[in-house]
Amino acid sequence: MENIENLKKELVAEIEAAQDLKTLEEARVAITGKKGKLTAMMKDLSSLSVEEKKEMGKNLNLLKAEVEKALDQRKSLLEEKALNEKLAKETVDVTLPVRPEIQGRIHPVSKIYEEVVAIFGQMGFSVAEGPDIEDQFHNFNALNMPANHPARQMQDTFYIPNPDSDDFDDSYVVRTHTSPVQIRTMENQQPPIRIIAPGRTYRSDYDATHTPMFHQVEGLVIDKNITMAHLKGCLYDFVKAFFELDEIPVRYRPSYFPFTEPSAEMDIGCLKTKNELKIGAGNDWLEILGCGMVHPNVLRAGGIDPDVYQGFAFGMGIDRLAMLKYGIPDLRTFFESDVRWLKHYGFNALDEASMTGGLSNNGGANR
Ligand code: DAH
Repeated sequence: MENIENLKKELVAEIEAAQDLKTLEEARVAITGKKGKLTAMMKDLSSLSVEEKKEMGKNLNLLKAEVEKALDQRKSLLEEKALNEKLAKETVDVTLPVRPEIQGRIHPVSKIYEEVVAIFGQMGFSVAEGPDIEDQFHNFNALNMPANHPARQMQDTFYIPNPDSDDFDDSYVVRTHTSPVQIRTMENQQPPIRIIAPGRTYRSDYDATHTPMFHQVEGLVIDKNITMAHLKGCLYDFVKAFFELDEIPVRYRPSYFPFTEPSAEMDIGCLKTKNELKIGAGNDWLEILGCGMVHPNVLRAGGIDPDVYQGFAFGMGIDRLAMLKYGIPDLRTFFESDVRWLKHYGFNALDEASMTGGLSNNGGANR
């Protein structure tokens, strides 16, 4: 018995002497491994008498359990020590200045996104989000586009089969516009509502101004006594702030969208020459967004009483805004991940867009 106690002390001391995981593993093999000390003692039991075997066997099993516990404890301790040493070694000093030669750039789409959020944020809008994969109810039906509505063909939709149903009407879509976020917001929030919803959208289209994935920003305002005058004032302030001009000619052309009535498209004044597009002057017009008063059917679909509340909505392409504001001719290049392109058109990561500090920081002078 005394021997067992001494042996225990000896083995535990051996385990605790291990200063790293490798030495501990060697100790484990030397004690409880196939050819280990303890294993050998267990094997020797067979040479003892039945009585001795019983007594010794019990003691050895107890010893083994204690040795294994000591091994486990030492292992956790050394693992933690190793992790802490690794973390200490890998510490990054975030206060160090950026090294220009490895500096990342902000993509123009992210930049425009920040600018749009800064402008509408200051007007009191908050940012809402919705899923990229939508059901047809939110992408179409609730927006006053029931099945077989001709307007559904205007949008070259990517459909996704529904594993639980063979009915085509139950298939999902990757959202063709950010307008479904209007419905999701109305479902979750009571008026007054004032949101913008920037995000990815998808249509089967590909040329210099269309890519299968692109970005839109949706706007929705709902309250009592909202009129077209609010829409016009809000969007006028937006384009002035966005193009960083004190004045800009605008006009609204009557248009058609199923989810608004009346509907309009907003144009801004510009000058188009062979090689240049100058925004804010000249006799030409450039379409920049779709808008209108929210259709009563849409309010109803979102659970809002159109006899009490009215609203306006608008939607525009973020990538298109980037092309216009920063003079980028081909949309397809946006998504090619060419580092040279990003270096040329991208923005300094530390120049955050804000209404007080400057939107694009001197029209891109800091690029
Ligand atoms: N969803 C439309 C599109 O993708 C854009 C749009 C037009 C959104 C008018 C609106 C709106 O909210 O009122 O073409």
